[in-house]
Amino acid sequence: MEKVENKAQILGLCTNLKAAERASLKDFGEDSHEALGGLQRLLMALVVLVLILGFTATSLIYRVKIAPLRAQLVESRAIIERQEKLASLGTLAAGVAHEIRNPLTAINVRLHSLKRTLVRGSSEDEDTTVIDQEIQRLDRIVRDFLQFARPSDPRLTNINAEDLFGRVQGFLGSELEKASIRLNVESPLTVWIRVDPQQIEQVLINLIQNAAESVERDGTITLRARPSVAPLGGRATPVVILEVIDTGKGIPPTVQKRLFDPFFTTKEAGTGLGLSIAARIVEKHGGALQYQTEVDRGTTFGIVLRAWRKMEMKSQPKILLIEDDASIVSGLKKELQVEGYEVAVAERGDHGLAQAKEQAFDVVITDLKMPGLSGLDLVEQLHAAKPRLPSLW
Ligand SMILES: Nc1ncnc2c1ncn2[C@@H]1O[C@H](COP(=O)(O)OP(=O)(O)O)[C@@H](O)[C@H]1O
Ligand SMILES: [Mg+2]
Repeated sequence: MEKVENKAQILGLCTNLKAAERASLKDFGEDSHEALGGLQRLLMALVVLVLILGFTATSLIYRVKIAPLRAQLVESRAIIERQEKLASLGTLAAGVAHEIRNPLTAINVRLHSLKRTLVRGSSEDEDTTVIDQEIQRLDRIVRDFLQFARPSDPRLTNINAEDLFGRVQGFLGSELEKASIRLNVESPLTVWIRVDPQQIEQVLINLIQNAAESVERDGTITLRARPSVAPLGGRATPVVILEVIDTGKGIPPTVQKRLFDPFFTTKEAGTGLGLSIAARIVEKHGGALQYQTEVDRGTTFGIVLRAWRKMEMKSQPKILLIEDDASIVSGLKKELQVEGYEVAVAERGDHGLAQAKEQAFDVVITDLKMPGLSGLDLVEQLHAAKPRLPSLW
């Protein structure tokens, strides 16, 4: 009887044990499942994080490195295509211009000999005047077209923006005055640029003529030079911007779309080449022509050129040049001025010494043999008076 009870106990124990084993197995399974789920979630999160990081890194690299390169490439390709088109146009233009100019010259010569036989003020004489004007116009168109299609390479020299403005002012001043247009020149800084002065002068003239035609009477045109930073060739570059600001009619959007198209004009007697020529010249200088306009308020055209040297405030380094040979003085003075120095000249040693003692110079350059005082004596006396002033001889 006891045996049977023991057996039943053992069986009960076995059943309990199995149940416990099953429960623990179930728990283990559930735990593992949970742990596995957690791991899966972690892995998913990691994959998502890696993807996000990868995407961010790729877009960053694209934005910083690849996109500017692509933009540069597209820009370069467009420039090359334009240059190729213009080069073939240039050859064509030269041929056509030659063909047109020869008969034009012949007509001109005949017209002038005919004019001599006519009575001054007669209707025939007036006719020849009109023909003459039209010949001049044709000649101008051919010349402009040639300049547009075949601009010569710029001959670069260093020039002060103020000097450039001065030259243009001298050229157009009286014409603008006659039309009651005020021409202001603003240049708060001494700004140096390295350009072909004649070509940039031509650009300024074209822009001022357009401005004058837009303001008509009683308007104002301002010329201004200012240093800035602008994107040139795909990267931020220190530049000088020569601006032509007018208080004219402004440019409506429909005209803006075609502004730089060769032969596009809104004027009866216009050639439509002024801006095309200006843009080509500026492009040849590695610069850019930009504009801002507001209808009925005015327009500002900006010639953006690479800054040639650091801009200085009006106080340029001052040099005293003591030299009695006029030809050396004029050559050296010009060269030093081009380099951005302010130059004073003394033609005698004793005068030079007095000047150097009285005024504040940064450097003194002196000849050795001079009237009044020899160069070596001068240097010695100057050194005694102003030991920190460097002198060269
Ligand atoms: N400063 C300006 N103000 C208003 N319109 C302008 C100005 N500059 C240029 N334009 C417009 O651009 C056109 C093209 O100018 P341009 O190429 O110099 O040729 P053109 O002066 O012979 O017409 C002009 O006909 C004019 O409509
Ligand atoms: Mg014009």
